[in-house]
Amino acid sequence: MSITLADLAPFARGGNRLCYVYPADRGRCIKVRRPDFTLEDRRRKKGFPKNLLPLSHFDDNREEFQVMALLDRLYGEPLYRHVSRCFGFVETDMGKGLASELIRDADGAVSQTLKKVIWDEGFSEQCQQAVAVFAQFWQSYSIPSRDLLLHNIVVQRDEQGDIARLVVIDGLGSQGLIPTHWMPKELQVKKATKKVANLYKRIETLLGQRGQEQFPGYHGELLHNDKP
Ligand SMILES: Nc1ncnc2c1ncn2[C@@H]1O[C@H](COP(=O)(O)OP(=O)(O)O)[C@@H](O)[C@H]1O
Ligand SMILES: [Mg+2]
Repeated sequence: MSITLADLAPFARGGNRLCYVYPADRGRCIKVRRPDFTLEDRRRKKGFPKNLLPLSHFDDNREEFQVMALLDRLYGEPLYRHVSRCFGFVETDMGKGLASELIRDADGAVSQTLKKVIWDEGFSEQCQQAVAVFAQFWQSYSIPSRDLLLHNIVVQRDEQGDIARLVVIDGLGSQGLIPTHWMPKELQVKKATKKVANLYKRIETLLGQRGQEQFPGYHGELLHNDKP
């Protein structure tokens, strides 16, 4: 049976997808393509020669599912200390959706992005500590990823409102991913180290923007936090 989402309010919107709370399970979310930015639109925007590729090439849900299945096989349980779980596809009235673990704070609110937290609070000592733990994990497991963007990482808080951990919720696919785990270990570590260095650079950039009035860019703020 198809799940009805079109009547509900998405809790977030990324560049490609809308995110809804899974109606039957508040511990999960469903990500569907944005109806205002279809796969066809995305392909068209790429221009020649990429626009010759099949539509499936531009489908993040499909790519994310394949990548998550591979990472699950490679890393198993420890992966989920800092990556949200993927539960596979569901049929919805907005097309095929990908169901994932919805990261919530202890008070039930959907966790905010790292971008939003640093924008609001600066790079607090607690946040620095959480990023350091995450960075150490990312390098030691040398998890292959695209660039670690601040709106693709969420900050989960505990009962006291303190930061419990950072969780990557998007951006794990990459064109070159499939071969990466065949690479020599040193090269894998080098790649992950570079991603972490870029993450710190992005944090620096965001800190530099904090004086300005508007939240920078289009992504990283929730539409609602679904707090009970
Ligand atoms: N599993 C999740 N838990 C909590 N928040 C999430 C989760 N997945 C997505 N979000 C929120 O939704 C936004 C958009 O989701 P994302 O998967 O990044 O979409 P897109 O592929 O369009 O970039 C994120 O920036 C984040 O705020
Ligand atoms: Mg995203």
